[in-house]
Amino acid sequence: MIKQAIIPLAGLGTRLLPLSSIFPKELLPINGRVGIEYIIDECIDSGVKEIIFIISKRKQMIKKYFYNDIYYKKIIRKKKDPKIINEYQKILKYRKMIKFVYQNKPLGTGDAILRTQNLIKDKFFLILFADDLIMKRNCIKDMMKVHNKYKSSVIASMNVKKKMVNRWGIFSISKYLDKNNFLISDIIEKPKTYQAPSNKAVIGRYILPKSIFKILKHQTKGKGGEIHITDAIKKLINEKSLFIGHRFKGKYLDCGTMNGYIKSSISISKL
Ligand code: G1P
Repeated sequence: MIKQAIIPLAGLGTRLLPLSSIFPKELLPINGRVGIEYIIDECIDSGVKEIIFIISKRKQMIKKYFYNDIYYKKIIRKKKDPKIINEYQKILKYRKMIKFVYQNKPLGTGDAILRTQNLIKDKFFLILFADDLIMKRNCIKDMMKVHNKYKSSVIASMNVKKKMVNRWGIFSISKYLDKNNFLISDIIEKPKTYQAPSNKAVIGRYILPKSIFKILKHQTKGKGGEIHITDAIKKLINEKSLFIGHRFKGKYLDCGTMNGYIKSSISISKL
């Protein structure tokens, strides 16, 4: 059973400017709900007990959202509205599970994850990217089943158009375990079309081993001058660590781009 999940939230959100210039993109509404709540629910639903949020000073508002007691208590005292009481209780439930860690310089996903190393207790943990919503099916629940069967790391994946490979981490596979699960033999961060070993993209759900921290400590900057989790995974694969790509079921929504963000509310409203 995997009990801890990390959610990196310190990114600048440049793809969603100007919406994200003051307001953290993770708090923007998606079909009338605060976006980040969708993946918190995915975690709770799959049995995760602790969620580590990586935020920055710029994104303190995310912490405030979960610690807005004075405001809620005042309103509830005045109005005693069951709907508001419900909302407050939901926030309190979320808060109990969340720890906050800081990454004040946007040095990449690998650098962000490294900041949680003293909090990770078990041999394996989860990472979820808030930009990537997967609806209609609990993706991490399915990934945990694969992990339990093979005792391996697992990465969520989907096929993308060849000309779009430079938006994603892309991996090559050495063997199909079944229709939806395959052994990963190599991985590359946002390759050019001619460099891409396949059209299998990494989507933001990972089950990773604690041993990745040793690698992240010495990880040098990669694409765009950032420290990427993809490059640390590549090293683990080279050291013969078992990584399985899991083609998830469910509907994918890319909320990290303006077009995708706009479409996501419409898609969810139709589910
Ligand atoms: C990150 C990862 C990339 C992965 C993607 C999934 O990129 O670096 O490998 O495919 O998430 O959403 P980002 O979206 O932060 O640019």
